[in-house]
Amino acid sequence: MADHPVLLITRKLPDAVEARAARDYTARLNASDIQYDADALISNSAGVDAILTCSTEAFSASVITRLPERVRAVATFSVGYEHIDIDAAKARGLIITNTPDVLTDATADIALMCLLGAARRQQESTAMLRDGKWGRWEATTMLGMHMTGKRLGILGMGRIGRAVAKRARAFDMEIHYANRPRLPVELEKGAIFHQNPESMLAQAEFLSINCPSSPQTLKFLNAERIALLPDGAVVVNTARGNIVDDDALIAAATSGKISGIGMDVFNGEPHFDKRYLALPNAFLLPHIGSATLDTREAMGFRALDNLDAIFAGRAAPDALT
Ligand code: DGY
Repeated sequence: MADHPVLLITRKLPDAVEARAARDYTARLNASDIQYDADALISNSAGVDAILTCSTEAFSASVITRLPERVRAVATFSVGYEHIDIDAAKARGLIITNTPDVLTDATADIALMCLLGAARRQQESTAMLRDGKWGRWEATTMLGMHMTGKRLGILGMGRIGRAVAKRARAFDMEIHYANRPRLPVELEKGAIFHQNPESMLAQAEFLSINCPSSPQTLKFLNAERIALLPDGAVVVNTARGNIVDDDALIAAATSGKISGIGMDVFNGEPHFDKRYLALPNAFLLPHIGSATLDTREAMGFRALDNLDAIFAGRAAPDALT
């Protein structure tokens, strides 16, 4: 319909999301899911009122400056928004929204899968089976780390960190966390707060990274901080790849300082550091934290809810600018 706002959707999204977008907007879809670079993003934005994008498109200050004046809003189909220059968006008067809440459970599930997969040597065990090397049952092979009753350190106790804690309580884990600020007691639910993340690391037999990527968290888990972990700790990252220093993590997983790593996110993904593949004690996933149909539909609907509010003259529920 001519009077519907024009919406550019930069990636292929679940059918139900695209159908709703096509019903309520003049939707420009990307059926072939070609990834737009900065120039393609700008040229495809001509005549567009809003953009529904993913974490795969970078809205740098220069892209934001070049966007046609008509573009009022960018809704990202992600909770993370480090791919968008928020200051540049504010300066340009561009409304930015994200999709919190709806992917919390799916991502926390994957964090637990990474904890268990790394602790219980899933990838090594499966390789033994698939490679025909399973000779017989032995009492002393494939011995992993026992999770029940151990201390879990959570870096970043936002929605996802708290959902990881909830799941870990079912394993009788003692939860330690570092977060700014400290949580109110009803959200802590007995978790032990560390003002100083380094003091939490010293407790973390298992470490789950759940904080956002920011200039402050860049390469947070470096060699000095890994040295603080108990020997044989298991480290899991389901947040963003750039929170760890790959050289330091790979060295620690090779030396045995860290007994297992679980990763769903990588620096520079999908072009990640291939040395991870050679580590037998690495449980690796290709950024599938939110990858269930229910979750991806909910993310798309949440992004559209935000855009609907904007075009109805209301405040977007998840406005970041
Ligand atoms: C998110 O929502 O931030 C997920 O990591 C997908 O990008």
